[in-house]
Amino acid sequence: MWFWKVLVVAAIGTVHAASRDQWLGRSIYQVVTDRFARSDNSTTAPCDAALGKYCGGSFQGIINKLDYIQELGFDAVWISPVQSQESTRTVDLSAYHGYWPNDLYSVNSHFGTSDDLQALSAALHARSMYLMLDIVVGDMAWAGNASTIDYSTFNPFNDQKYFHDYKLLSEDPTNETCVLDCWMGDNTISLPDLRNEDQDVQQILGTWVSQLISNYSIDGLRIDSVLNIPPSFSPVSPSLSGLLNYPMYYILSEAFNTTNGDLNTIVQSINNIRTNCADVLPLGTFTSNQDVPRFGSYTSDLSLARNILTISMLADGIPILYYGEEQHLSGGFNPVNREALWLTKYSMNSTSLPLLVQSLNRIRSYASGDGEKFIVAPKSGTDYLSYLSVPIYKSNNILAMRKGFTGNQVVSVVSNLGAKPATKATTKIKLGSDGTGFSSGQNVTELLSCKTFVTDSSGNINVDLSSDGGPRVYYPTESLNQSTNICGNHTQTLTASSASQKTSTSAGISSFDLSMGVRTLIVTAALTTSYISTLFSRSPSLLL
Ligand SMILES: *[C@@H]1O[C@H](CO)[C@@H](O)[C@H](O)[C@H]1NC(C)=O
Ligand SMILES: *[C@@H]1O[C@H](CO)[C@@H](O)[C@H](O)[C@H]1NC(C)=O
Ligand SMILES: *[C@@H]1O[C@H](CO)[C@@H](O)[C@H](O)[C@H]1NC(C)=O
Ligand SMILES: *[C@@H]1O[C@H](CO)[C@@H](O)[C@H](O)[C@H]1NC(C)=O
Ligand SMILES: *[C@@H]1O[C@H](CO)[C@@H](O)[C@H](O)[C@H]1NC(C)=O
Ligand SMILES: *[C@@H]1O[C@H](CO)[C@@H](O)[C@H](O)[C@H]1NC(C)=O
Ligand SMILES: *[C@@H]1O[C@H](CO)[C@@H](O)[C@H](O)[C@H]1NC(C)=O
Ligand SMILES: *[C@@H]1O[C@H](CO)[C@@H](O)[C@H](O)[C@H]1NC(C)=O
Ligand SMILES: *[C@@H]1O[C@H](CO)[C@@H](O)[C@H](O)[C@H]1NC(C)=O
Repeated sequence: MWFWKVLVVAAIGTVHAASRDQWLGRSIYQVVTDRFARSDNSTTAPCDAALGKYCGGSFQGIINKLDYIQELGFDAVWISPVQSQESTRTVDLSAYHGYWPNDLYSVNSHFGTSDDLQALSAALHARSMYLMLDIVVGDMAWAGNASTIDYSTFNPFNDQKYFHDYKLLSEDPTNETCVLDCWMGDNTISLPDLRNEDQDVQQILGTWVSQLISNYSIDGLRIDSVLNIPPSFSPVSPSLSGLLNYPMYYILSEAFNTTNGDLNTIVQSINNIRTNCADVLPLGTFTSNQDVPRFGSYTSDLSLARNILTISMLADGIPILYYGEEQHLSGGFNPVNREALWLTKYSMNSTSLPLLVQSLNRIRSYASGDGEKFIVAPKSGTDYLSYLSVPIYKSNNILAMRKGFTGNQVVSVVSNLGAKPATKATTKIKLGSDGTGFSSGQNVTELLSCKTFVTDSSGNINVDLSSDGGPRVYYPTESLNQSTNICGNHTQTLTASSASQKTSTSAGISSFDLSMGVRTLIVTAALTTSYISTLFSRSPSLLL
């Protein structure tokens, strides 16, 4: 559809051709800056997400907790919009989330100073990690109804001429013109809609974005509220772009949020997306974000959580984990899905999920040749990342996928059997050599338990999910011979999970020359408001 096409071609400023490829091997941790970590390192400071107040998270807080993010295996961090915000707290709560800008040229003082933001960028780059910035380019914010707006207070859009006439999108949400031109927000918080189709608006935004990128050495951008930005908006030259894979998100949450979901729908959805989307590799796969309920709000069953994380993070595309999903936080719809992570004490053993996430990131990184070292050509099909996953077993309750060429194939088996699958009819399956690519009598390591199995004389492998409902991830044992942080050198006696491994803060990340300034960018587009994403959720083709 029109509004997505824009983003597929819109990227910002001086973008290098390599940028898409450099992002493909990355794994992104998304934080709500106000809720991730505080400068004082407190793990007790109260934060009731339902109240919608600032809770004290900051850029310095993120710097202090980069070890945690890196230990989880991520090599890119997506943070909230950093601009100065409408400061009034109304019944629509406050702007702790960063989506209510009023001055694009100053930094939200609740998060720190521009020096602090530069320090965050430098700290990430020192670890060979990338910084992705969320930006709002479609509107400004004002506490009060339209008739009360003082446009002169906005920077740089200090005149009503930059904005569409007042009409709320909520009044006419199915009118395509209105979707482009109407105002999001309501009469409590007005979000006057920028005339992104106008050249002067584009030019002002373009200047701002280029400065932002160069002032803070930004590696990637995520543009908020895409739906509300017209096709002609492009302050920028065409280049790479990624999109958040919302169709997959809805299918996955429905398939895994109860034990009655149907995993066949996942295969259908993958096929649809491949048919309709020219380039699936930069699609961001996720299980939750700031606009939708957390997976933990649907179910407390950790087996289901482990399975959805596994299929999501090992899928084709770029994994994006919303902070706190690894801690099985359970907030439902906005605003309660923006909990303070510090209250979890950043534990790596709160549940099995943090170490699962670590293992999945390491597996993906290892199979793909450690990210940065491994620059792939678009659709070359010769490497792990561009090998499009093939379903090799599917039923309502169990799905097995293969990704990767023989010798480097990751075979994952997920289920929605739940933690107590005993009563289910089928908990054991046999995967044939034709699907897995494993040969007869081959040693295959299950990477989440670090147990090694030998395929039978036909190359089959038996998968038994009766104890815990999975997931399982198989990989040729001999191909682990260069791994240092997966399954303790792949020895045979392992029963411990990779949990017990030594965790290195630079696990799986090669150091590389990172020139400051503009280097690499991705634009990840998304629908912002939950009512709009709900509106379109059932028709993936609309997203293309
Ligand atoms: C917070 O933690 C960081 C990283 O561990 C440490 O360097 C810093 O001194 C701590 N700050 C405070 C105020 O305790
Ligand atoms: C807008 O807000 C002002 C100030 O609260 C109020 O006096 C006025 O009636 C409101 N106008 C509309 C159209 O709601
Ligand atoms: C759709 O919205 C536009 C912009 O508000 C408006 O001008 C137009 O009349 C609306 N169309 C219909 C059919 O209501
Ligand atoms: C970038 O830095 C320059 C020089 O300090 C400053 O004038 C400009 O306002 C900054 N732009 C942004 C978007 O931060
Ligand atoms: C499962 O997820 C779907 C899609 O997000 C949602 O509509 C549905 O309410 C969820 N079901 C349960 C039982 O949580
Ligand atoms: C998690 O690890 C910490 C530090 O090693 C330990 O003190 C704590 O008891 C562990 N908690 C659980 C639930 O295993
Ligand atoms: C499988 O592993 C065992 C134990 O390490 C080893 O003796 C055997 O040679 C391996 N088989 C193959 C086919 O590599
Ligand atoms: C690791 O195993 C592969 C496949 O057997 C082999 O080609 C490679 O030489 C081995 N590398 C090392 C360092 O042993
Ligand atoms: C395990 O790997 C480490 C790091 O590569 C190496 O130093 C050590 O000798 C290996 N241990 C075994 C038993 O192979």
